[in-house]
Amino acid sequence: MHILHLTALLFLFAGECLVHALTVTPLVTLQDLTALRAQNNYYSSGFTAVTILSSQDAGENGGNLFVAQGKTGQADDGGVYIVDAASVVWERSFSGPVNVLWYGADPTGAAASTTAFNQTINYAMANNADVVVPAGHYVLNQGLQLPSKISMNGEGAVTLDFAQLMTGSAITIGEVDSYYYNAGFPLVDEFQQGKLSNMLIIGSNVSNGIFLHGASVTYATPFYTLEKLDIKFFKIGVVIGQQTWLNGLFSCAIQQYSEYGLYVSDEGNEGEDISVYNSAIFNANNANAIGAYIDRGRSTLSDVNFYGTSFDYNGGPGLVVASGQARFFGCHFEGDLSVSVESEGYAEFFGCWFRIDYGFDITGGQTNFFGGYLPTINTMNITSGTTVNIVDRQT
Ligand SMILES: *[C@@H]1O[C@H](CO)[C@@H](O)[C@H](O)[C@H]1NC(C)=O
Ligand SMILES: *[C@@H]1O[C@H](CO)[C@@H](O)[C@H](O)[C@H]1NC(C)=O
Ligand SMILES: *[C@@H]1O[C@H](CO)[C@@H](O)[C@H](O)[C@H]1NC(C)=O
Repeated sequence: MHILHLTALLFLFAGECLVHALTVTPLVTLQDLTALRAQNNYYSSGFTAVTILSSQDAGENGGNLFVAQGKTGQADDGGVYIVDAASVVWERSFSGPVNVLWYGADPTGAAASTTAFNQTINYAMANNADVVVPAGHYVLNQGLQLPSKISMNGEGAVTLDFAQLMTGSAITIGEVDSYYYNAGFPLVDEFQQGKLSNMLIIGSNVSNGIFLHGASVTYATPFYTLEKLDIKFFKIGVVIGQQTWLNGLFSCAIQQYSEYGLYVSDEGNEGEDISVYNSAIFNANNANAIGAYIDRGRSTLSDVNFYGTSFDYNGGPGLVVASGQARFFGCHFEGDLSVSVESEGYAEFFGCWFRIDYGFDITGGQTNFFGGYLPTINTMNITSGTTVNIVDRQT
């Protein structure tokens, strides 16, 4: 019984080897990319594939096998294309997303990973790939530019640490398309949606967090999703700029901001909806800071919708609708905050729950409350001439 079994296994094993021999033969094993770059005669001696051992270069989706593709003119890009001392181009063999570790990102946080992230994003843009960030603490000392079609997703516990960044935004999405366009990359497909997900992103308290910016190039308007992000220690947590379409924040937490948690800037175009789902904006660093500021301008077709989102804050305005339309479904406003709807604002609250200390300040065109829990009705500060409808209120 045992002998028969063993024979069968040997037969299978021999079959496996034959299959590999017919495809690629990784006969050479090297420690790292530096050793590969130093080679000057592998390819001329007949070797077409090498395996790189170091953990930095390994990873998921294969990724540690390099194959000589005979490409000429391809520069060494730091992670996927490696050029050796004989000018032979070795290309990393993988499927799926491109991994920041391949470009030398440091998950221990000891060294800055800015160049590695930038090179990974450049590869992703040119090859229509997504980016994966494995668990770790990555120090980034300059802002990252992310094209709107690229997804960058954390796997496991990922921290992007921008504590050394003193100006600008930690991650700018969208605006960079004009940069990539000018650099000769293909135009962004406007229907292709990117996503940033599953990360803790921390700042210096003086720079901004994520800036979703509309692109100046036609067809490069970002449809972007932010999902499961914990964004903290920024001047403004998330800025949603002009010409941004159908963006969604899903299950994000924005906290310890010093000016605004979420800032939706003006001049939305018709049909540009922004939605925030199951998120939380709370715990400002500064008593004058505003949880969410909506300033969507004149367009009556540009909506900002919040679903199941909570606002909880120590010391100042939780929500200001300065202009444009904002709707709130099943949201929760709690703590020492106020809500205000200003003269060009239009706000509707459906089934929302308010337990706030500073009441409402309504100087806007129209504010409607449908259902919900509104105990502080007496403290509402309603400018004469504004329309406030309250239907089925509970106390
Ligand atoms: C990222 O890469 C682009 C193109 O190579 C370069 O122009 C830009 O300065 C880089 N940014 C950083 C932060 O390294
Ligand atoms: C930002 O402020 C918080 C306190 O709210 C502090 O814990 C954190 O260390 C600050 N970060 C920097 C980089 O100064
Ligand atoms: C009502 O409005 C007045 C004048 O703008 C302001 O001083 C006061 O704080 C407001 N009260 C509430 C409850 O918002």
